[in-house]
Amino acid sequence: MEICLYDPSRGYYSVNAEQFGKAGDFYTSSDVHAVFGRLLARQFDEIWQTLDRPPQIEILELGPGRGLFGRDVLDWSRKKLPEFFSALTYTLQESSPALRMKLQDTLGEHIATGKARVPEERPTLAQRFSAGEAKPADQVPEGRPTGLCRALGSETPLIVFANEFFDALPVEILGTQGKLHLALENNRLQEVWIPPLAEELEFLDRYGVHPEAGERIEVPVIGQNWIRHVAHSIPTGLLLIIDYGYTRNEQLAGRYRGTLMAYRRHSASPDPYQVPGEQDLTAHVNFTALTAACEQAGLQVEKLLTQSQFLMGIGETNQFADAFEDCRVLQERAKVALQLKHLVTPIGMGENFQVLMASRTVDPKKIAALSGLSFGSSSRFSVPSSQ
Ligand SMILES: C[S@@+](CC[C@H](N)C(=O)[O-])C[C@H]1O[C@@H](n2cnc3c(N)ncnc32)[C@H](O)[C@@H]1O
Repeated sequence: MEICLYDPSRGYYSVNAEQFGKAGDFYTSSDVHAVFGRLLARQFDEIWQTLDRPPQIEILELGPGRGLFGRDVLDWSRKKLPEFFSALTYTLQESSPALRMKLQDTLGEHIATGKARVPEERPTLAQRFSAGEAKPADQVPEGRPTGLCRALGSETPLIVFANEFFDALPVEILGTQGKLHLALENNRLQEVWIPPLAEELEFLDRYGVHPEAGERIEVPVIGQNWIRHVAHSIPTGLLLIIDYGYTRNEQLAGRYRGTLMAYRRHSASPDPYQVPGEQDLTAHVNFTALTAACEQAGLQVEKLLTQSQFLMGIGETNQFADAFEDCRVLQERAKVALQLKHLVTPIGMGENFQVLMASRTVDPKKIAALSGLSFGSSSRFSVPSSQ
């Protein structure tokens, strides 16, 4: 999965920047409509206010892809939330060289003013070793680097945002025979099973389920490394993860027991071997494990919400006026209404996508009052009492 997606010369994400939207392989929320970024801009502004309006705040987006979300947040903040905008620095941490080039187009204007930054990926230990920067004793097996490339110092409050980042990280696969590896035999890839590590079995004990005959269950080793790094890297601020995923209880109830999928031209396949390097590979996110890592790092974690609850909470204040701002004629409004519906309804992205929010040194009462966490609490939506 690591090689298929991220090999520097052949990987699906490394060399290709056309995977998103109608002409690509899949849609993410920002491909559906700018209202996703606009609503999140409002939420970020509220968070900034909750932090007592610091003179500077950094949003670091992990895996921004082609950058539509960052552009929508920055454009909307400049237009509607100018005080927040003037405090904001927006960092887009993207590992794909092809997509980093694309980001220069999407966010050119904001990059030119220094409002948005696209850091180069940190060199891996192997690269540092060949450049003579790392000592031989440091050289341990390592994939791509894990950790945040912040633009501002640790005294500046930080919001880390990740939409569909964790589902794109390679996973280990465990079956009843052991852990899946691939071998090249007679010039063909062969599946072989090796003994799993004790940590991988412990992960399943705590946060997942052990595979039964015929099942292939994921262990997101790299994702767990990431969340630990990220959670420890937030001195003051907040982490917001949006992704499709599941909890351990859902796995215990028989759902999400093996979620690795391939996507190409908007069709999904459970076979990851069809066109390596030319298709997306993805696995649902284990939110029980992400939550536990945040708690172990001392973050305060909020109750998991659906994307529907979260966006409805932000949008209900102004009846989703942010979606319809650019509509000139009725037909445009009808089209945007459908796009909005796709983002919030269960048959679209509303129920499959979950929202995890975690924070450090922020007043829990103020966090609980954020609009994204308060859907249905305004009097307009409360059910009248029968007494
Ligand atoms: C499924 S795409 C999501 C893109 C975007 N967030 C969106 O919602 O449209 C996953 C993105 O994460 C990026 N990515 C994967 N691993 C990364 C890493 N270690 N550091 C930074 N970006 C990474 C990929 O290159 C890709 O752009």
